[in-house]
Amino acid sequence: MGTGCTWLWGEGPVSRRSSAMLLTPFLIAMAMAVSEASARCPVLCTCRSHVVDCSGQRLFSVPPDLPLDTRNLSLAHNRITTIPPGYLTCYGELRVLDLRNNSLAELPAGLFLTAKRLAHLDLSYNNFSHVVANMFQEANSLVRIDLSHNPCLRKVHPQAFRGLAQLRDLDLSHGGLSFLSLEALEGLPVLVTLQIGGNPWVCGCTMEPLLKWLRNRIQRCTSDSQLAECRAPPEVEGAPLFSLTEESFKACHLTLTLDDYLFIAFVGFVVSIASVATNFLLGITANCCHRWSKASEDEEI
Ligand SMILES: *[C@@H]1O[C@H](CO)[C@@H](O)[C@H](O)[C@H]1NC(C)=O
Ligand SMILES: *[C@@H]1O[C@H](CO)[C@@H](O)[C@H](O)[C@H]1NC(C)=O
Ligand SMILES: *[C@@H]1O[C@H](CO)[C@@H](O)[C@H](O)[C@H]1NC(C)=O
Repeated sequence: MGTGCTWLWGEGPVSRRSSAMLLTPFLIAMAMAVSEASARCPVLCTCRSHVVDCSGQRLFSVPPDLPLDTRNLSLAHNRITTIPPGYLTCYGELRVLDLRNNSLAELPAGLFLTAKRLAHLDLSYNNFSHVVANMFQEANSLVRIDLSHNPCLRKVHPQAFRGLAQLRDLDLSHGGLSFLSLEALEGLPVLVTLQIGGNPWVCGCTMEPLLKWLRNRIQRCTSDSQLAECRAPPEVEGAPLFSLTEESFKACHLTLTLDDYLFIAFVGFVVSIASVATNFLLGITANCCHRWSKASEDEEI
């Protein structure tokens, strides 16, 4: 049976033209297959009332053939390194997927294409280095994503969370992020809680748009705002991210006045005159020396 969906058996081979005599035993067999599938529980997992718990079993790979009506699936505290593409295809009822504390570095593209009801996704304590574009594509019901405690997580693509119109909680704390683009968060209309503490933020000019945006939401966002600190540049090292004001970014907006331009033009002029004069003097000196040395050579002969 593999990892194919048992329920799909009913389609295909059975056509309307099948006689009732052929159909009846087939339906019975199918019903048995379905009830068997619903009751089946992978080894090392416990299954009851839509909850499948395979946590802490030292699994190196995901268990195949879960009950088709699984709503909560916990694979937490294992050693899973990859998830096969299409793994979730058959589990359209899935609401909660807990992959906490594994060794995942990436998810296969399109993993959530059929996970239309998935609301909670826990990817914390893994080995992700990137949140790639459209990583959660089609998981439009996601309410919470936990990506915390991924120490190698350095990059979040601006399109990483695209289309997640229901996302309320996003946890990016305790990673390796030094920068986060505003674009990544702007498209999340109902975001309420954002956790970003414990990252080595570099609070330079590129972070200004994000911080400005966050400051307007500080009431709603960031229960961990005290934890979010700048790691660099040196003048703001250790400063809470949210203590930075417009003033802190003044240097990012240096605009030059007419006086500044005149001054720069004047300095440029003086420097060029000076260099011409210096070259001239050097030329004369070199010429003199040359002649003098030639003259003294002639004398010696
Ligand atoms: C399913 O998961 C959610 C979220 O983690 C949890 O609140 C809920 O209690 C779980 N349901 C069961 C029956 O364990
Ligand atoms: C991760 O799982 C291991 C068992 O595989 C456990 O010993 C460890 O405490 C877990 N770590 C966290 C942070 O939950
Ligand atoms: C995490 O990923 C890196 C490569 O990106 C790999 O070298 C390392 O072994 C992984 N660690 C774990 C715990 O899987």
